[in-house]
Amino acid sequence: MQSLIVTLDGPAGSGKSTVARFLAKRLGLEFLDTGAMYRGLTAKALYRGIDPATEPHAVIELARNTVMRFDWYDDPPRLFLGNLDVTDRIRDRDVTSRVSEVAALSGVRHVLVDIQRRIGEEHPRLVTEGRDQGSVVFPSAQVKFYLDASPTVRAKRRAKQIQDAGRKADLQLIRKQIIERDHKDSTRVESPLICPEDAQRIDTSDMTLDQVVEHLETLVRDKMNMPTDG
Ligand code: DC
Repeated sequence: MQSLIVTLDGPAGSGKSTVARFLAKRLGLEFLDTGAMYRGLTAKALYRGIDPATEPHAVIELARNTVMRFDWYDDPPRLFLGNLDVTDRIRDRDVTSRVSEVAALSGVRHVLVDIQRRIGEEHPRLVTEGRDQGSVVFPSAQVKFYLDASPTVRAKRRAKQIQDAGRKADLQLIRKQIIERDHKDSTRVESPLICPEDAQRIDTSDMTLDQVVEHLETLVRDKMNMPTDG
């Protein structure tokens, strides 16, 4: 079967994780959540008592010595470190608050990018999501998207997630953090957040999730000459 890699890059809050999952389903492709891999390593570092800020080399060593795999029989695929299922653990607040430090380590990125490329070889019909998928990991992907949304819209989406989880959210603070993080992400040396030249930029600010998924599905089908029934 012909290989088809669809990449979704973009900042946090652009909706790329949810969009990627639904898009994969609509197109009959598999789904790779690369953020989960950075989260998995962060969870393991915290479990081992390693502080990513002061012990970066220990985190990189841990990345090299960790067997990370997805169970593709589940939908979405579950993440395992060795035999340990960390799918739920990686969404905890302590992991979320430390993961960007882990993701900024170039030694970690090299290890995880290698694993992602291997997954791409083993699962060549894939929607993959993460900030560097079209720009770094799969430069020759057949279809590339860059999802974006205004800081205000992204802050509202994030606040809703927090409120849905039963916690209080400060919208202004979240918006300020998003703007700061965008700046940090787009100016960092290792895999800065950029829109790949050959990616289609989609501003999702005024679109519902369904509208985004449908729009991307149409663009992929048109480009790849895929009939609507799969
Ligand atoms: O999308 P997410 O929140 O699960 O991502 C977790 C963290 O990992 C976030 O700080 C962005 C980072 N990340 C990355 O640097 N490169 C990727 N390909 C995916 C995620």
